[in-house]
Order: sequence, then structure tokens, then C-alpha cells
Amino acid sequence: MSKMEVKTSLLDNMIGVGDMVLLEPLSEETFIGNLRKRFEHNEIYTYIGSVVISMNPYKSLPIYTADKVEEYRNRNFYELSPHIYALADEAYRSLRDQDKDQCILITGESGAGKTEASKLVMSYVAAVCGKGQEVNKVKEQLLQSNPVLEAFGNAKTVRNDNSSRFGKYMDIEFDFKGDPLGGVISNYLLEKSRVVKQPRGERNFHIFYQLLSGASEDTLKKLKLDRDFSKYNYLSLDSATVNGLDDAANFRTVRNAMQIVGFMEDEVQSVLELVAAVLKLGNIEFKPESRVNGFDESRVKDKNDLKEMCELLGIEQSVLERAFSFRTVEAKMEKVSTTLNVAQAYYARDALAKNLYSRMFSWLVTRINESIKAQSKSRKKVMGVLDIYGFEIFEDNSFEQFIINYCNEKLQQIFIELTLREEQEEYVREGIEWTNIEYFNNAVICDLIENNQNGILAMLDEECLRPGTVTDETFLDKLNTICAEHQHFESRLSKNSKFLTDHSLPHNCFRIQHYAGKVLYKVEGFVDKNNDLLYRDMSQAMYKANHSLMKLLFPEGNPAKVNLKRPPTAGFQFRASVGTLMKNLQTKNPNYIRCIKPNDKKAAQVFTDSLVCHQVRYLGLMENVRVRRAGYAFRQAYEPCLERYKMLCKQTWPHWKGPAREGVEVLLKDLEVPKDEFAYGRSKIFIRNPRTLFFLEERRKQCLEDLATLIQKIYRGWKCRTHFLLLKKSQVVVAAWYRRYAQQKKYQKIKSSSIVVQSFIRGWKARKILRELKYQKRCKEAVTTIAAYWHGTQARRELRRLKHEALSKRAVSVIWAGWQGTKARRELKQLKEEARRKHAVAVIWAYWLGLKVRREYRKFFRANAGKKIYAFTIQRIMQKYFLGLKNSMPSMSPIDKSWPARPYMFLEGTHQELRRIFHLWRCKKYRSQFTEEKKAIYEEKLEASEIFKDKKALYPCSVGQPFKGDYLEINKNPKYQKLNSVIDEKVLLADVVNKINRANGKGASRIFLLTKKHFVLADQKTGQVKASVPLPDLSSVSVSTQSDGFFALKLKEGTPSAAKGDFLLSSDRLIEIITKLHRSGTASAEREPINVDISDEFLVQFKQDQVCVKFIQAGPKNGNSVSCKRKNNRLLEVSVPSP
Ligand SMILES: Nc1ncnc2c1ncn2[C@@H]1O[C@H](COP(=O)(O)OP(=O)(O)O)[C@@H](O)[C@H]1O
Ligand SMILES: [Mg+2]
Repeated sequence: MSKMEVKTSLLDNMIGVGDMVLLEPLSEETFIGNLRKRFEHNEIYTYIGSVVISMNPYKSLPIYTADKVEEYRNRNFYELSPHIYALADEAYRSLRDQDKDQCILITGESGAGKTEASKLVMSYVAAVCGKGQEVNKVKEQLLQSNPVLEAFGNAKTVRNDNSSRFGKYMDIEFDFKGDPLGGVISNYLLEKSRVVKQPRGERNFHIFYQLLSGASEDTLKKLKLDRDFSKYNYLSLDSATVNGLDDAANFRTVRNAMQIVGFMEDEVQSVLELVAAVLKLGNIEFKPESRVNGFDESRVKDKNDLKEMCELLGIEQSVLERAFSFRTVEAKMEKVSTTLNVAQAYYARDALAKNLYSRMFSWLVTRINESIKAQSKSRKKVMGVLDIYGFEIFEDNSFEQFIINYCNEKLQQIFIELTLREEQEEYVREGIEWTNIEYFNNAVICDLIENNQNGILAMLDEECLRPGTVTDETFLDKLNTICAEHQHFESRLSKNSKFLTDHSLPHNCFRIQHYAGKVLYKVEGFVDKNNDLLYRDMSQAMYKANHSLMKLLFPEGNPAKVNLKRPPTAGFQFRASVGTLMKNLQTKNPNYIRCIKPNDKKAAQVFTDSLVCHQVRYLGLMENVRVRRAGYAFRQAYEPCLERYKMLCKQTWPHWKGPAREGVEVLLKDLEVPKDEFAYGRSKIFIRNPRTLFFLEERRKQCLEDLATLIQKIYRGWKCRTHFLLLKKSQVVVAAWYRRYAQQKKYQKIKSSSIVVQSFIRGWKARKILRELKYQKRCKEAVTTIAAYWHGTQARRELRRLKHEALSKRAVSVIWAGWQGTKARRELKQLKEEARRKHAVAVIWAYWLGLKVRREYRKFFRANAGKKIYAFTIQRIMQKYFLGLKNSMPSMSPIDKSWPARPYMFLEGTHQELRRIFHLWRCKKYRSQFTEEKKAIYEEKLEASEIFKDKKALYPCSVGQPFKGDYLEINKNPKYQKLNSVIDEKVLLADVVNKINRANGKGASRIFLLTKKHFVLADQKTGQVKASVPLPDLSSVSVSTQSDGFFALKLKEGTPSAAKGDFLLSSDRLIEIITKLHRSGTASAEREPINVDISDEFLVQFKQDQVCVKFIQAGPKNGNSVSCKRKNNRLLEVSVPSP
């Protein structure tokens, strides 16, 4: 729904009541209470019907934004909460659409917010009316006229920091489309007395301060001014600066505004010169100078300011100086010159200043009007905005207040007239009967002031024009006589004895009971101010000025146009202009804004009941409400009324087909609203009592709640249904997906099962065929076997027969057999060949397949993947190999020959090498545990092995025997004590051996001792040494190859030992003995090692004879023992049993 279509009402979200007409019950208390409540909620606007009450918030509220303008644009007055924009919009639309000239009447006390309100109205209208370059320029000029006029016409007063000291009425002119064309401003009575004197706590007009603070040094120099306020008599000092008012910035704003409005640069300059001149004027002081005739004549004290002022305005100094000392009175072509005393000189000076300023102000207005004047001559629609000074009651009230309050009386008058008239007209228009209402009409007060015969203003004029001495007192006397009877006039000296004793009423005052309260006026100055006298010498001096603007401002100074008639008095002028204004306003459709000041402190958020109550009273707001409610409190066009309440009746809800009026009738009948509570107008329904309206509102609220419930119900239903449908739809989707999934799974299961079944069947079939084939094969084999057997049987039978039949045929058989053999061999050969070929083919095929596969697979591997895999495999194999090896190591025994089998061919070398290394290591380990003795023993054993191994048959059985050496333990045995004494060396060996008799070959036991240097033979029983041979004498040792223990010790020829010949000995420990002998030889350095001859025949030297010892294998009959026999001189035979 667009924003425009939203149907709202003033009645929505109301704080208090938005329209006082609806206040129930209506009393002053509830009225003020309602204002307060709304004010506290920042609702500063409240309606009384179409009148807007505006409370000054004294703070900026966020309710004047562009958005707000849009919100109120083209909306009905009662559609939104009360706002000044609603009134402006209503006025503007009524002007544009209904061709009615409008006026906006803004009233209220000083500081109540009238000027602000007028600006808000203007800015709203500017915002909503037409757009375009030309139009925007006009708008801008109209809006910018405000700062200019405010600078020159506003001042700080005790009531308002920006109080308008002039009345302003501005007509804004529009064309038929509602686009602004221009405007006309009228100003009313500037409070010019302010120029020369300001009450305490107040300031002169803003422009003076703005100029001094904001102008550049250069400008100030040109204007011969000083930035210091204190240098100027006309500027009161006590409140020269105002909080929140930036004079310098405002000066720039004013300059800028003047430019926009269309002031020429030299015009601005002239205006500023006049402002400066007024300041200078204030500084001119006088001193008395005695004259011969005894009178005092005034003289200018310090001529500097005078000089400067004259320079500024181009006035001849002497002319002005003279004007301050003399006065020329012209009467009937006769000129009389009188001197001025000091007081008169001051009066003349101030009068000049006031006139200069006020005339300049009027000129400004004229000049602005010239700029904003509508260009086209076509018919215009007009919207007038009246912002006039508010009702004023000060401590001292003078002529100005009198005039201002008179003006306000007139406005109240017009308000009363127009409101009532409007109300009345509406009733007539709508055809409703009119009932009269009582209210206070201030026409009597207006009459008291403005009556042509005996009005106060008329009498003042009379006094002023009367010849003879005229003073304020004579004027008061006159009032006392003439107005005494008037019920709104009060004076101590009047004939009305009522006030004779009223001490609140001083003698030099009179009091008027204005509609807004009683005001006490001091008569002092009334006559002068009304006369507004400026000596002709002055105006002539001004006219003579070499300054174009000055000439314009003082036309009466023109000597060519000497007018002896008195100028009209101020009161007269004002009355006339107010009269014109009223006439003007009466022709227009009025819109009221009644401004109320919430407190006297210019403070936000403070609501002083008594003050507001006073304003409410004198503004007659209560009466206003009463008038409005007298007939019917509330009225509304039928359409919006029906639209708002149609839900209260079944026939009108939700749509009413017929005319709106009938709809409303049906509605009200249905609701049983009492007949006298409402009346049907032509276009509106009139409701007598607010109660009825609130009843309707209450019902509507209830109904809305029900409707909301209904809407909620329907919405919830809809939401649930949508949700359900969504769920249903989702369920279908989910189900579909699930079914699909289940079917897929089922299908896959069936498929895999069928494959299993199929494979089983295929297997079964294959096996069956295989079985069949095997069976067939067996059958074939059986047949063959049977056939073979049968053939065999046949053959054997045949053979037997043949054998039986004829041996002769054997040859044939042999041939046959031979032939058969040949055939078979040939066949075998052939078969072998074939088999070889087949194998070759298979091998080639396998290689080729391998190649193919490798080639195939090669593309799956990267170039070095193969290598990597190869390396990895090798590594794995090696690892496995080593680990395996570790687990199957043979024992640490060096003679253990076992070694695990080689797992891979390629490891052959490694395997053997490892075996070798292991063996070496094992041996080393083995050796390392030997002691020195043991080592010696083994060395001996080793030597024995070197000498005898594989050479002598006795050797193997000696391996297991340890070489003990000393078998006889000679040291311990007492038997061998003799021997011990002979041998002083360490015995290497001691044993019993057989000494073979050289002659017969028989043996005799002998002890055989071996030391490092000798070997000794001794008698076994006695221990007597038979022979001791030094080892160097021994040349060699001979032994047989057999298992006997014979050995010959051969001595070197020519040695003493050799005399008896060589020794032939026999011992079971032959191996040990010879080894030790050999060792002793090898150990000593000086001897050659003893030779050991091993042969079955060797020669020995027996004394002179050389005998050959021969070993033969004895036959079994010779027994198991070795026997030795001397065969002859030359031969000794030893028979050794065969092993
Ligand atoms: N609507 C408003 N919003 C904010 N401040 C306001 C409003 N109306 C008035 N004022 C304040 O009150 C002061 C006096 O208002 P003004 O219109 O000059 O009073 P009046 O013209 O009635 O003497 C203004 O200077 C301003 O500070
Ligand atoms: Mg004002």
C-alpha cells in the first residue's frame, strides 16, 4: 500500500486529545492539563477545530524535516496529529484548489513563537509549491527577506531574544497553478524609541551589534566605526551580547540575504552608512552657552563625532551644527528663528536618530518589495501571513505598548468575528440550525481606543493639534473627563469614584482592561510620540546631504516643497494602517495560529500553569472551544466518517455500495446513537457531543481488536495451511527419493545375487563338462588300456604260440622286436622333439606375454617408478633376507658347518661372503677366550697337525688326547730323585717309551725326558741315565706313515752322541713327543729346526751299520700288535696291523 493510501486519523495514538473540542469534560483545568500533557510529550500543537494552538518549545524539535513536509503534504487536516504544517497545507490547498485567498493570522504574546511560526508556514509553502528555476528564485527571495528585516527590525527584549519590534504582514502571491509569483510586505510601526534608549536588560536593534562584530576592519574604517560597543551611547551595555546569538555570523547571513534579495552593493553601503551615522549621532553631546538675552543656547561639545557623521553622509557640518542650536518656525510666510537649549538639542538629536532609522527601515521594506514584486500582471491568488508584535504588558507601558495592544485588540476582534462567522456559515452551508452562543466580544475596547469622536487616539490627536500648551497631563485630564464612564477605562482622577482610592493606579497613568488583561499606561511621552516631531531644520539639513538615500528619506526637507501642514500623527497613521489591514484580512479566508508561551524563562520543558492559564483566558481559547462545541462538537465529511467506522455495522462492512451519507445513516441507526446526538449536514455529519465520538472510537477500537483477531486467525490458518502444503509436498518428494533409493538397492541386490547364482551355475556346468570330459578321457584310456592288455595277451599268446611253434621264427621275432624298438625309439625321439618344441613355444609365449604385460604396465609407471619399486623391492628383500638370516644363524661353534640355504639366486656371492665373514668372526670369538697355556697347547696341537695331518695314520687318534707333557711327575716321584738331580732344567716331557734293541728288534722300557736343551733316556726302574743327548746333535726324526708308534732319532755324524748310533724308539705318544722335539727346535734360534721324515722306509745308523727300517702291513694272522724283527744286517721290519 502506498503512503498516500494509508488512512489514519488525528484520533490515532493521541496524547491527551489532539483537538480541544473533544475535551471531556471541558473546563479550564482540563484544558490546561491537556496542553501540559501534550507539551510534556513534545506535542506542541493542539487544535481547536481548525485553529492551531502552538506552544513554544524553546528547543529544536525534529518535527520540521523534509520527511515531515512529505508526510503532511496533500493530507486532510484531521488525518494526522496536529501540526502547523497541516494548517499550512490546508491553507495552501484551499488557495490553489478552491481559489480562495488565505490569511494566516499568528497571534500571541511576545516570545510565544509567532515569528518562528510564520517562518515555518512560509518554508512549508515554499517546499510544497511548484518547482523550477524561476519559481525557486522567487521562493528564495521571499524567504531571504526575513533575515534582512529581522536584523533591522528585531531586538533582544526581556521576553524574547529575537523580538520583532515591528508588525509585519506579508502577502505571498501565487499564479493559478499555485506557483509563487512574488510578494508584498507591509510593516507596521517600528518601535523606534529603541534606537535611542533601551529598557534594562534589552538591546538596540540587532544590526548595530552585527555591524560592529561582523564587518571587516576595512568596512569599519570606511564607516569610521570602532568595534568597541562601549564607545557608543546608543548601545546599552548590560546585554550587548546575547547567549546563542552569533552577531558576526548573522551579519554575514544578512549581507548574503541582501544580495539574494537584490540589493545593489552601493545600496548596502548606503544603508550601513546610515546605521553608522545613527551611532555617531548618539555620541554627539551638547553644552550650554549663555546668551546675552539670558537664555542658554546649546553648543556641540566635541565636534569630532559630528564631523565624522557629516563626512559619512555628505552633510555640511555647519548646517547640522546650526540645526542643533536653532529652530526655525515658519508661519504664514514668516520665519522665526529660536535658539535651542541643551535639552531641546538632545531631543532634536534623538528625534533625528529615530526618524533616520525608522525611515531607513521603511525604505528597506519598500526596496525588498520592489525586488519580490510579482512580475506578471495576471490575476493572483494571495496568501497573507501576519506576524505582528504580540500583546505586551511591561512594568512601564508607554505609547508603543498602547499601539501594540490596540493592534492585538483588533486582531482578536477579527478572530472572534471570523471564527463565529465561519462557524455560522458552515452551519448554513450544511443546512444545520444555528444556535446562538455567548462569548466576550472585545468590540467595546476597540471602540474605546479608535472611536473617531471620543476614542483615546482621537483625543490624543486633538490634544496634539490643539493650540496652547499641550502636555501629557492635559491629555490625561481629557481622557479622565471623556472616558470616565467607559467600563474598560480606569483612572484615578476620572469621574468614576471607583478608582479614587485604588493605589495601584498612579496619578499619571490610566489603565485599560484589554481583552488580554489590564494594562497600566504612563501618559508621559504620549503627546511627543504621537506628534513624532522632527524640526524642519533637521529634515532640511538631511535633505541637503550629498547622499542619495538621505535625500529619499527626508523628502519634506526639500525647500521647494515646503508643506506647512502638520504631518499626520503616529497614532493616526497607525490607526489607518490597522484599518486597512483589517479590511484586507476580512476579505480572506482566515487560518489561525495561536501561540502560547509556556514559561517566562525562555526555558525548554517548563510549563507554568498560571502563565498559560492567563494566555488561554485572554486569547479566549475556552470560548473558542465552547463556540465550536455549542452546536456540534465534531463534524466530519461522510466519506471519511464511513471509512472510519464502517466496521461497526454489518451492512456497511466491509463495503458500502450506496452513497456515503446513507451509509453513515445506516451505521448510526444500527449503533442506536440517540437522534439528538447528531445531525446530517449536506456533506458532513455533525456530532453534538464528544462523548458520542468517543463512544464510536471506543467501539471502533474494540472492533479493530476483533478484526485483528480475525486477521490473525485467518493469517494463522493460512500460515498453517501453507506450512502443511509445504510439508505434504516435501513428503512426496522425500517418499519418491526414498522409493528410488530402495528400488535401487533392491535391484543391486538382485543383480549381485543373480551374478552369484549365475557363477554357481556356470561353475556347476563347467564341472559337469569337466567330469564328462574326464570320464570320456578315462573311457578312452580304459579302452586303450584294455586294448593294450588285450593286444598284450594276444601278443603273449602269439608269442607263446610262436615260441611253441617254431624257434626258428625267433630270429623273425628278434628282428621284429628290433624293428619295434627302433620304431619306438624313433617315435620317442619324435615325441621328445615335439615336447621340446611345445615347451619352447610355451616359454616364448610366456616371455612374450611378460613383455607385453610389462610394456602395458610400463605406461602406468613413471620413468623411475620402476626403479624406485625395484629399489624398494630389493631393499625389502634384503631386509627380509637379513632378518631371516638373523633368525637362522648357526651355532657359535667354529666347527659347525651348517649355514642356512640361500633364498635368492642373486645373493649367491653375498651369502657365501657372509658365511665366510661369520665363520671368521666366530673363530675370532672362539680364540679370544683362550688362556696363554691353552693357547700353547693348541699351538702344539696345530704344529702336530702341520707335521702329521694326512701323513701319518696314527695322527687322527692323537687329536682327541691332550698333550700333558710330564706324565711321570718326576718332581714328585721319589723314584726319580736321581734323575731330578741330573736334570736342572724344566722338563718338557717325561714318559715311558720302548727302546728297540738294535740287534733283535725287541723293546725295553726306558724313561724319555725332554728339556729345552737335551733329551735323556733313563732306566725305568732305577732311573739311571742311559743316554743324554743335546738337542743340537739331533739331525732328524723319521716315522712311518702307519698307525705304529715307531720313531727314529737320527744324530748328526761326528758328534759325541753319534758314537752309539741312532735311537729307534716306540711310544703311543709318538705324535706328542715328536711335536715337542720339533718345537724345541723351532723355538731356539741357534738351531735349525729338526726335520721330520715320514715314510715307510728309512735308514738308521746302528754303530757302523746302516739299517733300513721298513714298515709293512701285517696280515690278520700276525695279531693286532705291532711287531718288529731284525731280518738281516741291513733290514729291520716292522709289521703294523692293517687298520
Ligand atoms: N517551533 C519552535 N521550535 C523551537 N523553538 C521555537 C519555536 N517557536 C519559537 N521558538 C523559540 O522561541 C523564540 C521566540 O520566538 P519568536 O517567534 O521570535 O516569538 P514572537 O515572534 O512570538 O515574539 C525563538 O527565538 C525560538 O528560540
Ligand atoms: Mg516575533
